Amino acid sequence: MTSPFDLTGKRAFVTGANTGIGQGIALALAKAGAVVACAGRSSMAETLTLIADAGGRGSEHLADLADKDAAVALFETAAREGGPFDILVNNAGIIRRADATDFTEEDWDDVLDLNLKAAFFLAQAFGKSAIADGRHGAVVNIASVLTFQGGIRVASYTASKHGMAGITRLLACEWAGRDVNVNAIAPGYVVTNNTAALRGDEDRSAAILARIPAGRWGDPSDIGGAAVFLASDAARYIHGAILPVDGGWLAR
Ligand SMILES: NC(=O)c1ccc[n+]([C@@H]2O[C@H](COP(=O)([O-])OP(=O)(O)OC[C@H]3O[C@@H](n4cnc5c(N)ncnc54)[C@H](OP(=O)(O)O)[C@@H]3O)[C@@H](O)[C@H]2O)c1
Repeated sequence: MTSPFDLTGKRAFVTGANTGIGQGIALALAKAGAVVACAGRSSMAETLTLIADAGGRGSEHLADLADKDAAVALFETAAREGGPFDILVNNAGIIRRADATDFTEEDWDDVLDLNLKAAFFLAQAFGKSAIADGRHGAVVNIASVLTFQGGIRVASYTASKHGMAGITRLLACEWAGRDVNVNAIAPGYVVTNNTAALRGDEDRSAAILARIPAGRWGDPSDIGGAAVFLASDAARYIHGAILPVDGGWLAR
């Protein structure tokens, strides 16, 4: 019997796949059978080793994805050389922390350019190709619990992650009838570089942990399974959903 979560024969493009949540997702997709194009600005060697050790296949594609033209060119070149993609995971993202009264235009633009603008134009390139070919596709955007909450000291990040929910729903409405699924995952607090500063702050770290019903921070592998699900045929009738994977944080 074939598993509805089987991704054999699928090609996935995952941004920010060298570390953290992107690495967890790339590995999970590869374990489910997908060939994974690992995209980002840093070496993908570690991720490609993990994928190979798991018996999977992947490739490295490097560019600064904050430049949306470079991001789209990277995607299109990879598709031309290796074949069209069935799955796009918009994971690459950054965060800048400052009080709202002191927040700079640079910290606003840098975060929005990568987290939202590049993600939208990558989805556009992916959707255009899938729709033109009549090919089924799945986009998985990485949102956040700050898609639903305000947070503190992260104005541009919160704006970008609220925006991610908006474009996820908009693209789902436009593309559901064209056999392209667009959904998002909202991770809670996960142990990655992104949360190093928070975890380094003893008081904030303890306060966050005390509020997580699961009683632990998330691990990138916790997010991988949800990405496999949303990329798979098991999620074929799911459009515009934002799935929290947060140890119960939002339920509290
Ligand atoms: N960790 C959490 O608790 C959490 C919670 C909710 C949502 N998220 C989201 O999950 C996603 C992944 O974050 P993470 O937690 O795994 O953090 P991370 O370890 O800092 O990973 C961020 C990824 O984005 C890449 N990236 C940053 N700027 C880039 C650029 N200009 N061009 C290409 N790639 C770039 C990074 O590459 P480099 O390694 O080269 O910098 C890295 O691969 C982000 O969208 C984040 O907002 C994280």
